[in-house]
Amino acid sequence: MDKNVTITNHPLIQHKLTLMRKTCTASNEFRALVSEIAMLMCYEATRDLPLKEIEIETPICKTTKNVLAGKKLAFVPILRAGLGMVDGVLSLVPSARVGHIGLYRDPETLKPVEYYCKLPADIHEREVIVLDPMLATGGSAIDAISQIKKRGPKSIKFMGIIGAPEGLEALCKAHPDVQIYLAALDEKLNDHGYIVPGLGDAGDRIFGTK
Ligand code: PRP
Ligand code: URA
Repeated sequence: MDKNVTITNHPLIQHKLTLMRKTCTASNEFRALVSEIAMLMCYEATRDLPLKEIEIETPICKTTKNVLAGKKLAFVPILRAGLGMVDGVLSLVPSARVGHIGLYRDPETLKPVEYYCKLPADIHEREVIVLDPMLATGGSAIDAISQIKKRGPKSIKFMGIIGAPEGLEALCKAHPDVQIYLAALDEKLNDHGYIVPGLGDAGDRIFGTK
């Protein structure tokens, strides 16, 4: 496994992911699970945030304790399915800014087509975490990260839920400086570019469009 890749195989995440995969899981439950997994994964992806000491007073005495050193974060979901992860990560880091990148995969070529990009104006001062539950061929994540890099953020991480080996390899190769967090690395892609066993079309399952 590439040193930049973390598979967060915590039992709570694995349990929730198995529920997400099931065809019989309805959209409302699916949405809740995406959000909960994103929150749990965010805990891992923010493990290296720097701390600083401040002086405080407890009811007992004065003491010096840690708080976050004020590092600025931005979450950038890839539309549509990345939207499902936003609530979960914001519940842990409510002060983070949120950018959006709209991409869809052309069903014939499987290449990403960009239709929207709105990023925080001060992105050059921020650590960015890109959100998309599915890393299939890797095309969407690679393209989104290339767009964000043009705006010069301090660093970029990618947080997905399920990855395919093909997409993970492509992403590591295209952006070797990006830390990648996934909840599972599945077997392969099928002939239509879907992850096997996967969970189907994440956007359709979150928004109930199929
Ligand atoms: C899905 C998913 C990723 C992309 C992954 O989006 O949310 O963005 O596919 O595939 P890739 O790694 O091969 O690029 P989709 O293109 O279905 O768009 P949608 O979210 O608007 O439905
Ligand atoms: N996009 C999805 O939503 N699911 C897949 O399996 C592959 C790409």
